Amino acid sequence: MDNIGDTKKALSPTELAELDVPKISVNQEILGSKKLYIESYGCAMNFADSEVVASILKEDGYSTTSVITDADLILINTCAIRDNAEQKVRNRLHTLNIAKKKKPKMKIGVLGCMAERLKQKFLEEEKMVDLVVGPDAYRDLPKLLEEVEDGYKAVNVFLSKEETYADISPLRLDSNGVSAFISIMRGCNNMCSFCVVPLTRGRERSRDPFSIENEARDLFEKGYREVTLLGQNVDSYNWTSGETEQKENFANLLERIALINPELRVRFSTSHPKDITDEVLYTIKKYDNICNYIHLPAQSGSSRILEMMNRTYDREWYLERISKIKEIFGEDCGISHDMIAGFCTETDEDHQMTLSLMDEVIFDFGYMFYYSERPGTPAAKKYKDDVPEEVKKSRLNDIIEKQREHSGIRNNEAVGKIHRVLIEGYSRKSNEELRGRNDQNKVIVFPKENHKIGEYVNVMVNSCSTGTLIGTVI
Ligand code: SAH
Ligand code: SF4
Ligand code: F3S
Repeated sequence: MDNIGDTKKALSPTELAELDVPKISVNQEILGSKKLYIESYGCAMNFADSEVVASILKEDGYSTTSVITDADLILINTCAIRDNAEQKVRNRLHTLNIAKKKKPKMKIGVLGCMAERLKQKFLEEEKMVDLVVGPDAYRDLPKLLEEVEDGYKAVNVFLSKEETYADISPLRLDSNGVSAFISIMRGCNNMCSFCVVPLTRGRERSRDPFSIENEARDLFEKGYREVTLLGQNVDSYNWTSGETEQKENFANLLERIALINPELRVRFSTSHPKDITDEVLYTIKKYDNICNYIHLPAQSGSSRILEMMNRTYDREWYLERISKIKEIFGEDCGISHDMIAGFCTETDEDHQMTLSLMDEVIFDFGYMFYYSERPGTPAAKKYKDDVPEEVKKSRLNDIIEKQREHSGIRNNEAVGKIHRVLIEGYSRKSNEELRGRNDQNKVIVFPKENHKIGEYVNVMVNSCSTGTLIGTVI
């Protein structure tokens, strides 16, 4: 789920200049209020976790700031999925080191998947880091911060079999007040051979459905109109009450959340092709407010490679799931993919099979990567990373090129039709235009007129660019 995009706030020249003047106001010192600056990398789960962290630290007297130089504590929530994700974090830490040199009392902590992967090593490698905390240890942050205040370096990378942070009400960061993420499970029990997530996030566990429902209801009452249920493999959501033996699967949970209010849109990510059931598909179909959009990572179109990846499905299985989606929804369901180019031993023939799978499906969009060997994964132990980098990159380009073509086809199909759009904010280009998404997760931009963020509108789409549909409210 590296598909949300990284947020990165570089130090502006003004911020750097301000580093000379510690900017903790008198009031804040009197009140003893401490300032937290938190930055998230990687997938939506990390963004959701940062909101849990902010909530835990709020109880500990911290308020959040978006200005680095104001912060007493900087936390970087990191991703380890590919080598370049880790490099980005390392570069960022070097920049932050400048801030710390000018304000030595400022503490820097590393959270998330890289913290889990590198553990103690982080403190040795990155000298300016004071704190290393893995994804299941955030409740321990107040205690760890006390140790840091006492001049120690603090580490907790314990992985839990139970922790779901179910009782913590996330503090919504950078929120548009319209859409929010809700974590429904943690960890992953699959062992896709290329993937570091089982090592960084531990065993899979499902969160109590009542706490998920309460969180979604509370968001709706606060004016939110869309929730995205998050897990590495939402289709294996499987909760059982210890006391009553009550059971809930993902289809049941979707229904529970959809029933909160028809005006609350329900999205989810990520679905695993081996686990997505007909029951889930029919539940999506049954409720208008469960969006017709499925992110179904394929990873490859070659059954031989899929087997080496330990995805536990083959090309035929994947295409059968796509056929079922098309049988139930017709062309009325957005489908996206993740694809990896240049996995170990991949031949040109395997690569052609990936391209032909894309031709068979015509995905609406996709997230595409070249293979990056991750230390400690089954693939790193068993296989040689033998596809030369330039071949990986050239195959990735073929995949991206094909997707661009297919996204164009899918976007053109949306032109001349009316779409129900939930307004999420202003368009990137102008404050006179609003943007939102349709049911199928396509971004639509239209003139603002008197419409407001958080409203639903019907938009006639008149044209499209590569990534965006352009229309007018009718
Ligand atoms: N749980 C999701 C994916 C999580 S990781 C699923 O199973 O589909 C998000 C994406 O990153 C993956 O789908 C995969 O395409 C990509 N990815 C994961 N490990 C990778 C690696 N070692 N090299 C390149 N891409 C990788
Ligand atoms: Fe990684 Fe596979 Fe789990 Fe997805 S399902 S997080 S790719 S191990
Ligand atoms: Fe997500 Fe990256 Fe961790 S994709 S689960 S933050 S390794």
